[in-house]
Amino acid sequence: MTEAGETIIELKNVYKIFGPQPRGRAFELSQAGMTKNEVQAQTGHVVGLKDVNFSVKQGEIFVVMGLSGSGKSTAIRTVNKLHETTNGEVIVDGVDVQKLRGKPLQAYRREKMGMVFQHFALFPHRNIIDNVGYGLKVQGVSKSERDKASLEALSMTGLNAFAQSMPSELSGGMQQRVGLARALAADPDILLMDEAFSALDPLIRRQMQDEMMDIQNQLKKTILFITHDLNEALRIGDRVCIMKDGAIVQIGTPEEILTQPATGYVAEFVQDVDQGRVILVQEIMVEPRPLTASASLEDAVKSIGDATGCFVLDAQGKPTGLLTSADGIRAASMGSQDLASGVRNDFATCASSDTLNSVYAAAGRGLPIAVVDEAGCLVGNLDPRHIMEEMGRVENLIDGFEREVFM
Ligand SMILES: Nc1ncnc2c1ncn2[C@@H]1O[C@H](COP(=O)(O)OP(=O)(O)O)[C@@H](O)[C@H]1O
Ligand SMILES: [Mg+2]
Repeated sequence: MTEAGETIIELKNVYKIFGPQPRGRAFELSQAGMTKNEVQAQTGHVVGLKDVNFSVKQGEIFVVMGLSGSGKSTAIRTVNKLHETTNGEVIVDGVDVQKLRGKPLQAYRREKMGMVFQHFALFPHRNIIDNVGYGLKVQGVSKSERDKASLEALSMTGLNAFAQSMPSELSGGMQQRVGLARALAADPDILLMDEAFSALDPLIRRQMQDEMMDIQNQLKKTILFITHDLNEALRIGDRVCIMKDGAIVQIGTPEEILTQPATGYVAEFVQDVDQGRVILVQEIMVEPRPLTASASLEDAVKSIGDATGCFVLDAQGKPTGLLTSADGIRAASMGSQDLASGVRNDFATCASSDTLNSVYAAAGRGLPIAVVDEAGCLVGNLDPRHIMEEMGRVENLIDGFEREVFM
C-alpha cells in the first residue's frame, strides 16, 4: 500500500501512436523530435502521446490540462489500460499496468480505481442506489453490503435522499454527482476523472469542485483529473500538468504555473487567469521593518526609506499604528517632531496564508497592510505597490516572449 506523499501513478517515456503501424516510422520520427503535425503529414499516423513522464503522489489532486486533442484522455486511458502504449511504462502502486490482461486487469480496474467521465450515462431503468452499487454487484458483493456502501457514497455527494429515485428525475448536475458516488462506492484508492465537470453550468461546476475537494480531504484519495479549463485546473489541482500536441509542456503547482510559465504557450493561457486567487500574501510580503513608538518623527521617516509605510508595534509585537512616508513627511513639514502626530490606526491586517484576491480591495486604499500571525504579531508588510507589480508580472512575461513561440 502506497503511503501519503509517495508516488502512486507513474508514466515513464510513454508514447502512443495511432495508426496501422504504431511502432514504425511515425514512432521513430516522433522520438527524433518531429512535431505531431509533421509526423501526421509524413506518415498518416496520429501522435497521441509523445514521451510523457509524470508521477502522481498518493493523496494528491493531479490535473492534466490542455486543449482538445492535446492527449489528455489518451494519457488517462493508459492508466486503466483502455489504451495499450506504443512505448514506455505505466506503473500504478508498483504494478506494471500495461502487462496486465484478462482477470487481473479487470480486478485492477474495479478495485484500484473509480472512473468519472463527462458523458457518463446512468442505467435509465435502475434506481439511483442500484446505479451507484452496480460496480459492486459485478464484483459479487451482496445486496445489503452494496446498499450500505452506496448509501454512504451517496451521502458524501449529498444525494442520499434520492437513493430510490430514477435517473430521469435528477438534473444533469445531480446525475454527475451520482457518477462520483458510483466511483466512490467501491472505495478505490484512485479516482480517474476525465472532464467530469466540463458539461456543467459554471455555478454547479464550482459546487462540484468544492465537494470533490471536500471528499478528497476526508478520504485522501488520489485524483487524476482532466480538464481543458485552466481555471478549473488551478482551482482544484495540487499540481497541474499542461499538455500540447501529445507532449508535456510544464508540470508545477498552480503558483508555479502562474508565476513561472515555462513557455509562451503556457504564459498565453495564464494571461486569462485571475492571478489573485492563487498567489498568497506570504509570497509578496516583505520584511516589516517596524518602528518603535519612542522614535523621533524624523528618524521614523528615514527608516521607512522607499517603502510606502511601516508599522508601529506595541511591546508584544502587535501593530498599533501605521506611518506612511507621505504622512510622515507632511507632519514633519508642519514642524512636528512627534511620531504619533503622523501615525494613523485605520490600517488593514491579513494573514500570510491569505490570497492576494482577498486583500485586493484593502490594497486599493494605497496603504500598506499589516501581515500578522495568529497571535496578532506583525510578521510582514504587504505593500500595495508590490501587489500591483505582481498582478502585472505575468502580463510582462507574455510580452517578453517572441511571437513565434506561440505557434
Ligand atoms: N482511437 C483513436 N484513433 C486515432 N486517433 C486518436 C484516437 N484517440 C485519440 N486520437 C487522437 O489523439 C490525439 C489526442 O486525443 P485525446 O487524448 O482524446 O485528446 P484530449 O482528451 O486532450 O482532447 C488527438 O489528435 C486525437 O484525434
Ligand atoms: Mg478528452
